[in-house]
Amino acid sequence: MKPLTFALLRRLSDGTFHSGEEMARELGISRATVSNALAEIKDWDVDLARISGRGYRLERPIEWIDAARLAQAFPELNPQVLDVVDSTNSVCFRGADQGAVHRRLVVAELQTGGRGRRGRAWRATLGGSLLFSVLWRFDQPAVALSGLSLAVGVALSRALKAAGIAGAALKWPNDVLYQYRKLAGILIELQGDALGPTTAVIGIGLNVRLGARTRDAIDQAVIDLATIVGQVPSRNALLHQVLRDLGAVLREFEANGFAGLREEWLAAHAYQGKPVRLVLPGGDVLPGRVEGITEDGALLLLRGRELLRINAGEMTLRAASDAPR
Ligand code: BTN
Repeated sequence: MKPLTFALLRRLSDGTFHSGEEMARELGISRATVSNALAEIKDWDVDLARISGRGYRLERPIEWIDAARLAQAFPELNPQVLDVVDSTNSVCFRGADQGAVHRRLVVAELQTGGRGRRGRAWRATLGGSLLFSVLWRFDQPAVALSGLSLAVGVALSRALKAAGIAGAALKWPNDVLYQYRKLAGILIELQGDALGPTTAVIGIGLNVRLGARTRDAIDQAVIDLATIVGQVPSRNALLHQVLRDLGAVLREFEANGFAGLREEWLAAHAYQGKPVRLVLPGGDVLPGRVEGITEDGALLLLRGRELLRINAGEMTLRAASDAPR
């Protein structure tokens, strides 16, 4: 999406009508340019009303991420708020040349190539999602960070509770579910030397209010906060809460690893004691019952009388029944 389109959307975010002529005059462009620039926003699930004689109005005004407030609240994260990027994870890595950067936050209003786990795309609605990545350097090597994605799940679970959203559950290794539908996803990418240090980029996507086009494009059971609480929560307030909890959890993880967070993870575990099918990278399926997780974040799966310890890798966990849940 072009910078001009964002400039127009910001003008329209007061929820009132603006004529094409007025916006064209203010921005020093033609009415046709205004109309062309606004034509592309339907791809991003933004509802724009156009009424002849009155102009354009956003059906749901967008609450933009406030960069100044972020910078004030989280100076240690050197926050950067961008309108459109390919993926916030990629932006984080790109700027982190050879470990010069220790901590960093990149937030985007829109991603054109948002990535999920296992090569999937991550889809979002403009103004209706939180899309951000935190870069955090650990002294430890990557092998010592196996529980990191679970730790991040604990941070999200805490943040949602603090925001008054009860009932979010965690799915191993790193999904946040509500009634077995996906509410948020975590993509952790690591870079570093075999003996450490390791640069982790922790990418988080949280569904705040997904538009119909976005939902249709997602091929799994999905939910957003607006559906859960019956109104659209403030994206800025939510982001601040998540960042507070994430900071606390990462510091705890840095000091003691996942062990101290394990009980909290288990308390929110969606599949504890449940029959599941574990889909292996080659497509093979391991049925079993979930017994829990270890102190380094491996899944314990009971298969007959054998207790298997499964490391996250590219594994997928499904409910034992075939029906999507
Ligand atoms: C998953 O559940 O598959 C993980 C999804 C992670 C999505 C977030 S959105 C912000 C960050 N940038 C990306 O490209 N992906 C993560």
